[in-house]
Parts: sequence; C-alpha cells; structure tokens
Amino acid sequence: MQIGAYKIIEHQYDVVIVGAGGAGLRSALGMASAGLSTACISKVFPTRSHTVAAQGGMSAALGNMGEDSWQWHRYDTIKGSDWLGDQDAIEYMCREAAAAVIELEHFGVPFSRTEEGKIYQRPFGGMTTHNGEGIAQRTCAAADRTGHAILHTLYQQALKHKAEFFIEYFATDLIMEEGACKGVMAWDLTTGELHCFRGHQTVLATGGCGRVFFSATSAHTCTGDGGGMVLRAGLPLQDMEFVQFHPTGVYGAGVLITEGVRGEGGYLTNAKGERFMERYAPNAKDLASRDVVSRAMTMEINAGNGVGENKDHIFLNLQHLEADVIKERLPGIAESARIFAGVDVTKHPIPVLPTVHYNMGGIPTNHHGEVVTLEDDNPDSIVKGLMAIGEAACVSVHGANRLGSNSLLDIIVFGRASALRTAEIIKPHTPHQPLRQGTFEDLLKHFDTLRHASGKHSTASIRDKMQRTMQQYAAVFRTANSLEQGLEQMQDIFTRFENVGITDRGMQWNSDLLETFELENLLLQAQTIIAGALRREESRGGHAREDFPDRNDKDWMQHTLAWVDKKGAVRFDARPVRMTTLSDDCEVIPPMKRVY
Ligand code: FUM
Repeated sequence: MQIGAYKIIEHQYDVVIVGAGGAGLRSALGMASAGLSTACISKVFPTRSHTVAAQGGMSAALGNMGEDSWQWHRYDTIKGSDWLGDQDAIEYMCREAAAAVIELEHFGVPFSRTEEGKIYQRPFGGMTTHNGEGIAQRTCAAADRTGHAILHTLYQQALKHKAEFFIEYFATDLIMEEGACKGVMAWDLTTGELHCFRGHQTVLATGGCGRVFFSATSAHTCTGDGGGMVLRAGLPLQDMEFVQFHPTGVYGAGVLITEGVRGEGGYLTNAKGERFMERYAPNAKDLASRDVVSRAMTMEINAGNGVGENKDHIFLNLQHLEADVIKERLPGIAESARIFAGVDVTKHPIPVLPTVHYNMGGIPTNHHGEVVTLEDDNPDSIVKGLMAIGEAACVSVHGANRLGSNSLLDIIVFGRASALRTAEIIKPHTPHQPLRQGTFEDLLKHFDTLRHASGKHSTASIRDKMQRTMQQYAAVFRTANSLEQGLEQMQDIFTRFENVGITDRGMQWNSDLLETFELENLLLQAQTIIAGALRREESRGGHAREDFPDRNDKDWMQHTLAWVDKKGAVRFDARPVRMTTLSDDCEVIPPMKRVY
C-alpha cells in the first residue's frame, strides 16, 4: 500500500514479537509450537541480543548441590525486592523455575555439571536456605557464559518450530486503535522499506534502557525501544526509578564481571586491603544483595578508601582461587579482565566500580505477560493485544531490587507464560479486521519528523548530555537537590531534542536516523527515572535517598505509574503492591526489616 512518500508492506500474523533476546525467543518458540503464526522482529541478529552477555546463571531451587525449596527462593526474592515485588507473580516465577531449567536442558543448553553429572549450581547474592539462615547454591550455570548458551539454544529451537524472523528490522511504533494494540510499524534497516506487522498479540521483549546512563553493563543496543513505544502510545511505565547498579563493572569500561566470581569465593577490598563487606553485611558479606554491596562500595570510596590513583574504585580479588576453578567456571571473566583492565586474574585484583546493570521498572504486566494500565480506577485493566516480557516488563517480580540470576529465570518463565496465555485466548489464523483510515498517516508523521529533522543539535551530543546528566544526578545515592538539578538539565535536553538535526535522509542503513529513534526512546524513559526518583521520598532497594534514608511502607509501598508527553512532562499515579498468593502452598511474607 502507498501512503504519501512511503510504500508500506503489510504482514498478517497471529503473534508479533519485538525482540529476539531470551524472552522473545522463548516466547516465539512457545507461540509457534502452539500453532500460532509467529513473526519475531529484531534490530540485531538474534544471537547478538543482550542476553548473550548474561554470565553467572539462572536461579532455580533444583537442590543439586545442597537442600533447597522454591518457597525459600520466593522468600529471598520478596525480601530482595524490599517488599515492592508482587507476591503472586514471585510465587509463579519461583515455583516454575525448576521446570524451566530442566526444559532448557532438554532443549540442549550445555549447563556445567557436578561430579555426578547434575546441573552445576553456584551461590549468588541474597539466595539463602531456611529463609535467610544458610547460603543456597541455586544459580544454574554454563560456566560464566550462561546467557550465551541459552540464547543460541533458544534460537535454534524457535527456528525448528518455524517462527519467522525479520532480522535487522527496527520497530518504530505500536499500532493502536481504541486502546487495543493491532501490531507494530517496523523499518527494514537494510532495504529501507517500511513494514506493518499485524498481530492479534504483540509481545514487547525489547530489553531494558541501561543506555540512559553513561556507564552501563548493557550493550549500546539497550535503548528500551518497547518502553519508548508504550509511552508514545499514551500508556504508563511502572517503577522506573528503580535502577540496579551491579557492584562489579570493570572500572572505566563498564563491562560486567559476574557475581559468580564472588559466588566462587572472590571478594572485594578497599585501599587498606580490608574486606569491608564484613562490616556492612556481617552474615552475607560479599554475597549480600547488589543494592547493599553497591552502596557499601560507594560509601568506601566516598570515605577516601577507594583504590587507584584517584581513589575512585575498588578491587575484586580472585588470585587465591584454584587455577582450575577459573579455567572451568570463570573463563569469560578472565578474558574480559585481560582485555578491558589489562589484568591477569591469577596474579592481580580486577579494578571494579558499581555500574548500571538492570531496570527493575518497565511496562506493567500481570503474571501472564499481559500489559496492564490504570483505567476507571482499575489498576489491573488489560491492554488488549499487548504483552511485555523480560527486562522490558515490570511484572513485578523484582520490586525495588533484583537478585542476581533471577533475570535469566524471569525471561524464560514469563516468555513461556506469554505463549501459554496467548494460546488460550487466540485461535490460530483468525483473520484481521482492516485498520481505520488515518492510522498510518499518524505513524508516518512521527517517522518523517525524525527523518527530516534539521535542527542544530546532533543526536550524539544530546545523548552524551543525557547520559552524563543521569550518571551525575540519578546514580547510587540521590537527594532532592541532586535530582532537581538533574531534572532541570533534562528539561533543557528535551528542548534540544526538539531541535535535533540529522544529516542522512536516506532509508538504507541510516544509523543517524536509527540512533535518533533510539535516543527518543531513551529520553522518555530517562525522564520517568529521574522524576520518579524525586517523587519517591524514601529509600528502598536500588533507590537510595540520602534525605529519606528509611523505607516508608506506610506511604510508599506502592508501584509508581508514570506517563510522559513528548515535551518531557511526567504525570504520576500508583498501583497497589500485590500481597496475595496464587496457592495455599506458601504464605504472604509481611514487610520486615532486612538484616544481612
Ligand atoms: O553477575 C552476573 O552474572 C549477572 C547476573 C544477573 O544480573 O542476573
């Protein structure tokens, strides 16, 4: 069909999935194997999706290396979430975990093995037995390349089940009519053609928006494209103020050094050579949850105990580990440390710094993956035809702070759940109704505005300013003062974006335009993060306000909902935290003070 200057190629599927990381691929495989015609659109080749970077493993109470139970896993996850996680969704995830791992094993994921041939499991921060008494070995690992192993296996399985892939296609906007999603518009980066993908279900599996910040373990492709599309469609994001800093990003480069290093016995030291985590978390020490370790490291640096010429980072030691442990369990990080820090880990510590790693917030969903919004006072109102899974979503199983290795679990469990739900509600090959007049014109107007932008500010300069502003004013520790300053600068950055200019007007491999779309997505989400952080006057999980150091359950045990308009104005509302269970097999865990 020809609309103005553009020819639009239309495709009709039962399901359209945007994103081909672990969540998107697990969903694609489930949808296709249920007989639903399935398109999976990805801006990168599937095995280059950011899941490939997940190192340490996937949690599941298999009990292969000591006693364990899914109820203990659930307890840890609720406690780790600092009581902002929805307890029904957490129950679902933790009880499905063992089956999810075994299923992956049967699909062909090459997990590391114990002497007896069982799946190898390592300790990870915040994972305990007997509700906090002992250390659990719960994280199932394929050496330190678990995400890589899972991603390759799932891609092969999705192809086997005949999911159809549209690779190096960039989704620009959701197609919405009367509050329901009808599919997405996408741009084929290679040919330059525009496509309309119709789906009875559209699944956003687009990952997080780590690149809002200057230093992140996230790939440069992590621009939260699903979150941006949702905000432009007039829907809210949830709990965006909660950003996780991973304690061990390589100093200067930001590259991830897995928590698995500390799980295998590595430890942090300050300039005095002191194992300072013993002071901050006497029980869990270096395996306390990430928010605690990142804050402790920052406090050490602020107290003048940082290492290096500028006393601005910390050492991660694994020189004492057996060479075989490094060779078999941690080969990837030995390589990363050599390449990015010039360090031989058998001889010297790795210089590390807390680095942005994960968005706990995202597109609000229920535990089936269906997107929800606040409508007519109903906080669980379902947006018809739209799902979100993985880091793009906020189920919310991570609440205010995610436990390490619960992310690979989340993408697999909820990728699968999205397919199970869709198979229940969509009959394969149901015909599509025509779209209303004018739908494409509106979407093309957005496309053209960016394509023909001729202002004086380059995309790269605006992005750099946003990333530095967020890093400086919305980092590990926050105050009203820092956040207000950051917000003021963000407002100026939004004004610059109204005056953005690109130089390439072509349609084929126009990276200038692609990066401008990505920047727009980042900017909208940056605003939800920093404005949400200013609004939330308490400290909880990954959100640490120096001016409000305590958790305040009375006023703030609620999810934030944030809408943003294109000028950067944010509107807020709230959703209650779900303090209910799905079954009688566990109890609600009431809020309590966390002890480490
Ligand atoms: O440290 C890591 O291996 C990261 C794992 C995670 O974020 O779940």
